[in-house]
Amino acid sequence: MTDETAGARHFGEEGGLLSYGEYLHLDVLLAQQAPQSQKAESDLPAHDELLFITIHQVYELWFKLLLHELTTVRDLLLGAGRGDGDPDRERMWACRHLLRRAEQVEQVLIAQLPVLETMTPQDFLDFRSLLSPASGFQSVQFRELEFLSGLKDRAFLGRLRAATDEERARLEQRLEDPSLWDGFLAALAARGLAVGSDDEVQAALLTVARDRAAYGDLWDVAEGLLSHDELSAQWRALHATVVERQIGYKQGTGGSTGATYLRGRRDLRFFPLLWELRTAL
Ligand code: HEM
Repeated sequence: MTDETAGARHFGEEGGLLSYGEYLHLDVLLAQQAPQSQKAESDLPAHDELLFITIHQVYELWFKLLLHELTTVRDLLLGAGRGDGDPDRERMWACRHLLRRAEQVEQVLIAQLPVLETMTPQDFLDFRSLLSPASGFQSVQFRELEFLSGLKDRAFLGRLRAATDEERARLEQRLEDPSLWDGFLAALAARGLAVGSDDEVQAALLTVARDRAAYGDLWDVAEGLLSHDELSAQWRALHATVVERQIGYKQGTGGSTGATYLRGRRDLRFFPLLWELRTAL
């Protein structure tokens, strides 16, 4: 049957149910960029506010994907050792695979900041005061990522005044749930390595590092975790510099000391023992 006799059906149109726009809910998605500077019809919109909103929304989409991938990695690590032989190897392969994806996404997160830096501080001032007290500080998904990565600080919950009940519940859950590090320790234990104290973990990490023939998969996972840690630190450092360039040492819209607060967070690490391992090698 030729294309003509088939009534000119084309690839992908058989069901005829979904279009690109419907599948992606573009009508909803593209209606969500609402500059504050354009609220009243008489207002002159600040040109760069669309850029500012777009960048932040894209970040939140990537945060959602990162939570999806890294939660799965955590679960795979926790499950390591429950199967026998091959299922265990399959899980470790999946961990490395998803950590590589997370790493690429985090590179994109870093690469996005220079796009925002094409905005001048003067143009930011056209709409900055309209944002207050909204701030990236209130990003629940960002804080979820920190909690999942092991940087659990309950104090942030008290400082998230605008969070909904559902968002608070998500953060509470992340505080309760095992972290990526807990998952990694479970994977070490499943291979017979003692992880009861920091000293034991340090010894286990040295064993893994020095016997890649036996523990190459665990070494790769550890390196994937370290990349996640390193890229997060790079983002924090770059964000602090971007903030200094945009607003100097003015107070943040979220009420913090701004660049001073952000500089104080630059040296945080999710997995300090993986960093210390370098010195011990
Ligand atoms: C013009 C660009 C930006 C400026 C001037 C800026 C400013 C600030 C300031 C001053 C803070 C400290 C909290 C406060 O008092 O408000 C902060 C925190 C934060 N911002 Fe930004 N920001 C910018 C771009 C971004 C972008 C593109 C994102 C992406 C999501 C982002 C995410 C965050 C997050 C997650 C925090 C909390 C960091 C932490 O607690 O360690 N910011 N920002």
